[in-house]
Amino acid sequence: MTAFQYRDGDLHAEDVSLSALTETIGTPFYCYASGAIEGAYTAMAAALSGLPAEICYALKANGNLAVVRTLAKLGAGADVVSEGEMRIALAAGVPAGKIVFAGVGKTAEEMAAGLNEGIQQFNVESLPEMETLSRVAVSLGRRAPIALRVNPDVDARTHAKISTGQAENKFGIDLDQIQDAVKLAMDLPGLSLEGLAVHIGSQLTELTPFRAAFEKLTALYRDLHGQGIPLRRLDFGGGLGIGYDGAAAPDLAAYAAIVRDCTAGLPAELVFEPGRFLVGDAGVLISRVLYVKQGTARRFVIIDAAMNDLIRPAMYDATHGFLPLRAPAPGTAEEAVDIVGPICESSDTFTRQRNLPPVAAGDLLAISSSGAYGAVMSSTYNGRRLVPEVLVRGGDRALVRARPSYAAMLAEMTLPDWLEQDQGARGAA
Ligand code: LLP
Repeated sequence: MTAFQYRDGDLHAEDVSLSALTETIGTPFYCYASGAIEGAYTAMAAALSGLPAEICYALKANGNLAVVRTLAKLGAGADVVSEGEMRIALAAGVPAGKIVFAGVGKTAEEMAAGLNEGIQQFNVESLPEMETLSRVAVSLGRRAPIALRVNPDVDARTHAKISTGQAENKFGIDLDQIQDAVKLAMDLPGLSLEGLAVHIGSQLTELTPFRAAFEKLTALYRDLHGQGIPLRRLDFGGGLGIGYDGAAAPDLAAYAAIVRDCTAGLPAELVFEPGRFLVGDAGVLISRVLYVKQGTARRFVIIDAAMNDLIRPAMYDATHGFLPLRAPAPGTAEEAVDIVGPICESSDTFTRQRNLPPVAAGDLLAISSSGAYGAVMSSTYNGRRLVPEVLVRGGDRALVRARPSYAAMLAEMTLPDWLEQDQGARGAA
């Protein structure tokens, strides 16, 4: 059941009216439903129950402190890819011992920060990275716990831009170089080899690529075990998709069954790094219709949200759902429209030739399944302010990231001395 339902024709997030929220927050803004986040986490934990599984939420999907805290309170760990995400996870109350630091390009400073905090493990992706991590660890008098991220050369059958598990992708260590990486991990004084990791892509809706990847990873695990190299942990990454715009979602129980099959009898702890699955369906982007423009070829609905607020349609050809905040009368005839934002690019298009109940200037729309890779990928392109975020829980609501003022936006930039003197520039008399 979705957290976003009509009550007396008015779309609600849990018990909060979204149109009422627009009166205080303005538009556009993201709204997240705590219950939906908690429900997704609980469903995944239940599906994996009985396994020695740890769910490390991938903050890249939504790094809002309140969202991360919601998951931390349920016991989630964190998968982070930068010092910034690590700081958010720690601030949200995720214990350092439940943080996995992933990413193909960690800096020495980030490694030192992770080591000083005592995180659970670094997922390393190349031999040169291992050399650097060892050097940093030795300089701090520590040993870095690592998992080798394997590139299993498996096609995830998802969008090319979010496919990560094939030999032509930059991620992971190729299977035929793994023995070298294992040897290096044993030789380097600053590393402690604890596990293997895999992540083949995001928004997977077919489960067979997971099976193919997990089988390769567990075969490698057994092989190393046979060579007298017992490893403690297997990290199966994230990637489980959601059902955008009414499409079928992959079956969580079937995913868990694949995990059980592949790990039967293995003495390994398991790590999962879900992002989108935990937060994607828990968020909507609320926007107001500015104009409806009838062109000769198309009817355009111009809204006040844009590709800088939600880049997924422009970047991945993603299809999100659209819900008017006021339910249309039953039987209202639909019309084909293009929903576009105000940014000066044709890619600022949320959907093309889509049948929707008629909308007029001033109407409000919710863009569904925007909880993952929405606000985190927003920018200030076209001088637009970062989009605010609201979290609801039952009838409670909280602004969990405010819309910056224009003064704050300007204050981020400074003028060099030689321009300050110019007539009319900020600070000039
Ligand atoms: N673990 C690793 C190593 C990853 O690279 C990712 C996502 C995840 C976990 C979490 O994946 P998830 O469970 O969310 O699929 N911006 C794109 C998605 C990029 C995903 C990058 N890596 C989008 O909007 O579709």
